[in-house]
Amino acid sequence: MVNVLVIGSGGREHAIGWKLSQNDSVDRVFHAPGNGGTPNNIQIPVDNLDELAKFASENDCFTVVGPEAPLAMGIVDFFNEKDLKIFGPTKKAAQLESSKIWAKQFLKRNNIPTAAFEVFDDPIKAKEYVSQVGYNVVIKADGLAAGKGVIVCNNKTEAEKSIDMMLVDKKFGNAGSKIIIEERIDGIEASYIALSDGKIGIPMATSQDHKRVFDNDEGPNTGGMGAYSPTPIMDKGISQKIQEKIIDKTISSLKDEGITFKGFLYAGIMLKDGEPYVLEYNVRMGDPECQPILMRMDSDLFEYLMGSVNGTLESMRPISWKNKSAVCIVLASKGYPESYPKGDEIFGLEQVFDNGFIFHAGTKKQDTKIVTNGGRVLGVTGLGDTLESAINHAYDITEKISWENKYLRTDIGKKGLSYL
Ligand code: AMP
Ligand code: GLY
Repeated sequence: MVNVLVIGSGGREHAIGWKLSQNDSVDRVFHAPGNGGTPNNIQIPVDNLDELAKFASENDCFTVVGPEAPLAMGIVDFFNEKDLKIFGPTKKAAQLESSKIWAKQFLKRNNIPTAAFEVFDDPIKAKEYVSQVGYNVVIKADGLAAGKGVIVCNNKTEAEKSIDMMLVDKKFGNAGSKIIIEERIDGIEASYIALSDGKIGIPMATSQDHKRVFDNDEGPNTGGMGAYSPTPIMDKGISQKIQEKIIDKTISSLKDEGITFKGFLYAGIMLKDGEPYVLEYNVRMGDPECQPILMRMDSDLFEYLMGSVNGTLESMRPISWKNKSAVCIVLASKGYPESYPKGDEIFGLEQVFDNGFIFHAGTKKQDTKIVTNGGRVLGVTGLGDTLESAINHAYDITEKISWENKYLRTDIGKKGLSYL
């Protein structure tokens, strides 16, 4: 028997723990720090590597890292030095996400398709560039900015304002002391996530996120307001193209540069005229993409994560998926992604559903109650024979849960239906 330590506190980590606990050889699943829905919470923050390693060692844990921050800090290197088993990429490999400039330069030198770009630290030169190029641009802070460091501009004025915000007003501090200005590509966005052992990358099921806060993809970007899997936009042909031109190429190019990538490799893709472009890499599962993907996974997650760590994915069977659709609807607090209230009591969580599961994210236990504790509060995930029935199941469940400042999009999965 083995224990598992899941690092992180979001819906993604609840889903990972939930799935891993289905393996008979997994004894206990601990969460650090976890949330109001996860069992066995350990009060250690995700950036306290010493305490996390101490806990993992004392409790004989296989550790799984959910979010990017500890990966960027080098938690995997730190655990490896101590001979502790851990799933995820090393600090060097995590640069794909922790430095957008590093990632763009990597894409360019390895001929992996991505939008044209330049890097700036001088606001005057940045503005000159914007007035020279004949297209709309996207402005990105180099470092990690909690998903808010990207501004998609509709005109030159917006671009100039964004340049000033990052390079003059330093809204993102050091993370925005260098910026990328890149060509805006208008297409359809989807997520392609693979599991890698440093040698090969095996595909997870396809999915599509809904990043904007309001219906019809309006309003500011968020961490993700809902996701569904599979997405009809990624047909076999497109998936194969992404697998070969992007995933395989990324893993082998990293290897050529002396970097072994183990973990989830997430390519944020823009599809335009049947061609995929990498918008960004993440070096972890997506949140909320993880929730519908794992709900459809028939194979044992623990075995595959071990396969990644041990470098044995080639000898394993392809992952098998339920021939069903899954939809995750994020229930958020009104005001997210800006400011929002915390501490509202949530009602209806004791209910159990045949075709769905409620993953917790920004929640915590307070005496006998569960209260809101973050912007994205719950990930209501429904399963159905078709995308339409999965959407209906998930929305039925959302109606049975309430708190004072509950907010959700009413169109999650709808764009999937429109592609069918
Ligand atoms: P990123 O964190 O780099 O994925 O950017 C956040 C969001 O900004 C993406 O999910 C896209 O919706 C949008 N975005 C980023 N880069 C581009 C681009 N080159 N063209 C159009 N939209 C983009
Ligand atoms: N849902 C997008 C992300 O996890 O970055």
